[in-house]
Amino acid sequence: MIPATRYTATAIALHWLAALLIFAAVPLGIYAHELAFSPLKLKLISYHKWLGVTIFLLTVARLAWRATHTPPPLPASIPLWQQRAAHGLHHLLYVLLLAIPLSGWLLSSAKGFPVVYLGLVQLPDLVGRSAELGDLLVGVHQILNLALLALVGLHVAAALKHHFIDRDATLRRMLPFSKGV
Ligand code: HEM
Ligand code: HEM
Repeated sequence: MIPATRYTATAIALHWLAALLIFAAVPLGIYAHELAFSPLKLKLISYHKWLGVTIFLLTVARLAWRATHTPPPLPASIPLWQQRAAHGLHHLLYVLLLAIPLSGWLLSSAKGFPVVYLGLVQLPDLVGRSAELGDLLVGVHQILNLALLALVGLHVAAALKHHFIDRDATLRRMLPFSKGV
C-alpha cells in the first residue's frame, strides 16, 4: 500500500481545534490569575477550566487516532536526527497536554473550587482541601505551561522554517484544504 502523504481530515481538525483552544486558554488563565478575587475572576476561571478539560478530551481523542493510524512520513529530505527530534517533541507535547489539565484539576480540588464542566458535570475532587498544596500545584501548573509555550514556540518555528525556507511539504501535510504533496 502507498503510504498517505497527508494527515487525515480527523487528525487535521483535532490538531487545529486543540491549537485554537490552547491559544485561548493560556491568555485567559494568565488574565484570570492576575485579577483580584471577584465574581468576574470566578467566572473567567470557570471558562478556563472548561477550555482545559476540552483540550484534555481532544488530546485523548488524538492519542486514540495515533494508536490506530500511522502519521504520514516526513519528507525524505529531512535528516533522520531531525525526524527523531520532531517525533520526540510531539510525544512531549502530548505528555504536557495531559499533565497540564490534570495539574489544573488537582489545583482546583486542593483550593476547594471543584470543576463543573460546562456548568453541567461536576468532576470529583482528586485531593482534599489544602491551601499549601494548592499553592504548590499552581506553581506546577505554571511551570508546565512555560514548558508548553517553549516547546510550541520551537514546534511552530520548525513548521515555518520547513514551509518558507526549505519549502518542503511538512506544513502542507497538516493544513486543511491544501492540495497535498
Ligand atoms: C491545556 C490546558 C490548560 C492550559 C494551557 C492552562 C493554562 C493556564 C495558564 C497559562 C494559567 C495562568 C497561570 C499564571 O499566570 O500564573 C492557568 C491558571 C489556572 N488554570 Fe489552567 N490551563 C489548562 C487547563 C486547566 C484545567 C483543566 C484546569 C482545571 C480543571 C485549570 C485550572 C486553572 C486555574 C484554577 C488557574 C488559576 C490559578 C490561580 O490563579 O490560582 N487549568 N492555566
Ligand atoms: C498550541 C499549539 C500547538 C500544539 C500543542 C501542537 C501539537 C502538535 C502535535 C502533538 C503534533 C503531532 C501530530 C501527530 O503526529 O500525532 C503536531 C503536528 C504538526 N503541527 Fe502542531 N501544534 C500546535 C500548533 C501548530 C502551529 C501553529 C503550526 C504551524 C505553524 C503547527 C504545525 C504542525 C505540523 C506541520 C505538524 C506535522 C509535523 C510532523 O508530522 O512532523 N502546529 N502538532
